[in-house]
Amino acid sequence: MREHRPSFHVSAPSGWLNDPNGPIHRDGRYHLFFQHNPLGPVWAASAHWGHAVSSDLVRWTHLPLAFGPSPDGPDSGGCWSGCIVDDDGVPTAIYSGLARMSAFGAETVCLARGDDELVVWRKEARNPVLPGPPAGLELVAFRDPFVWREVDGWSMLVGAGIVGVGGAVLLYRSSDLLDWRYEGVVLSRSAELETPVWTGYAWECPQLFPLGDRHVLIVSVWDAEPPNTRYPVAFVGDCRAGRFEPEHVARFDHGADCYAPATMADAHGRRLAWAWSWEARDEDAALEQGWAGVLTAPRVLTLTTAGTLGIAPAPELAALRGERETLEAGPLGPELVPQTRGDVLELAAVVAPGSARAIRLTVRAAPAGEEQTTVEWDGAASRLSIDRSRSSLDPRARGGSHGGVLDLAGDDLELRVFVDRSIVEVYANGRLTLTERIYPTRADSTGVVLSAVGGDALVRSFDVWELRSSPGL
Ligand code: FRU
Repeated sequence: MREHRPSFHVSAPSGWLNDPNGPIHRDGRYHLFFQHNPLGPVWAASAHWGHAVSSDLVRWTHLPLAFGPSPDGPDSGGCWSGCIVDDDGVPTAIYSGLARMSAFGAETVCLARGDDELVVWRKEARNPVLPGPPAGLELVAFRDPFVWREVDGWSMLVGAGIVGVGGAVLLYRSSDLLDWRYEGVVLSRSAELETPVWTGYAWECPQLFPLGDRHVLIVSVWDAEPPNTRYPVAFVGDCRAGRFEPEHVARFDHGADCYAPATMADAHGRRLAWAWSWEARDEDAALEQGWAGVLTAPRVLTLTTAGTLGIAPAPELAALRGERETLEAGPLGPELVPQTRGDVLELAAVVAPGSARAIRLTVRAAPAGEEQTTVEWDGAASRLSIDRSRSSLDPRARGGSHGGVLDLAGDDLELRVFVDRSIVEVYANGRLTLTERIYPTRADSTGVVLSAVGGDALVRSFDVWELRSSPGL
């Protein structure tokens, strides 16, 4: 089978990776941690925090495991997701500790302090700093602390699910990161509401931050039925006096393989996000390869003029660009085939749809289409989707077509697509993303085709780059 391990997206050196944890920009370096099982490519409750570092956001190097379960500690069963804050110069991780014998849903909040390099970590002697959920609330989950500094102390969100209601985030306050006071439910939403998006029975990995003149709350939707982990959603609204008033809610990503985004503000004042992209193939395929799970490329979050979440790839990704092919602008009818082929590519296309019923950008295509992955904008449905039903001849790879509404309202279609072996990230018009995993089996499944269906479109620009790998991964 062809090598499916991405070349510039972060995956674990070996074993399993899930959520990104505690991204932080310090002394000019970006640190990314992640949920990690070093022993095998399967999720294990006994999670460790893996660690990768980069000075430019795109070339990453793995560092030793940051920390893992302490045999006699409240995290003896696993160090689950959390965040890192700068406590007067001391990098401080606040995470969910799972006791070995406890039931899921009853996690504690634990704390560890790092050295200047964020390599050596010391657990707080008073762990757990929060032993469990507040009294009087019946919860199905309580985990993934997210902490930030206020003028007068620290605030913390914990992801939760309230029995009989649905997803919720709880607020705590502290002056020293050690003693926490419960302040109430910041936001909850009924699991019976289906529109505009279903938000499930519990919320994992909450992230709350100001953006433009609004606040954004991102949570990952957990279902009571397997597969429990579904998709992240972003609420845009106003957070005041411990309450979040949502004005808008939508999926964070419209692909099938994106979960648990973690965000941070960098030294340039940008809000960056990474998410976990899980394997979309049977477990035995991952066992064969010895690794599972990838982090998305860094994404820059903004507020659009419509008051919704804007998402674009970090401009630093341009540092990976190698050979470039620029195709001629002009009528697209019916198709344009670049000479550049590959399994690690960036594509940028700006197309005026004209009379075309649909615009398609196909990647990882075999010569006669035996394998192919197609990104399609459908004009009548105003929908952008990715179809991976023919991506792989391997029956263990998942198929299906997934997407979301992209109403161009007369604008051009602007696509940026990153193909990195088994991960495809699609960014459209600065506001819609699709993240999917694909597993082509043929060495010649490397072709690219841009096409117009049922009419004529106009290509304003179309560039294809070969991308370099991240040498430290
Ligand atoms: C999300 C999640 C978190 C938890 C972690 C455990 O994928 O379930 O809620 O902390 O994974 O690995």
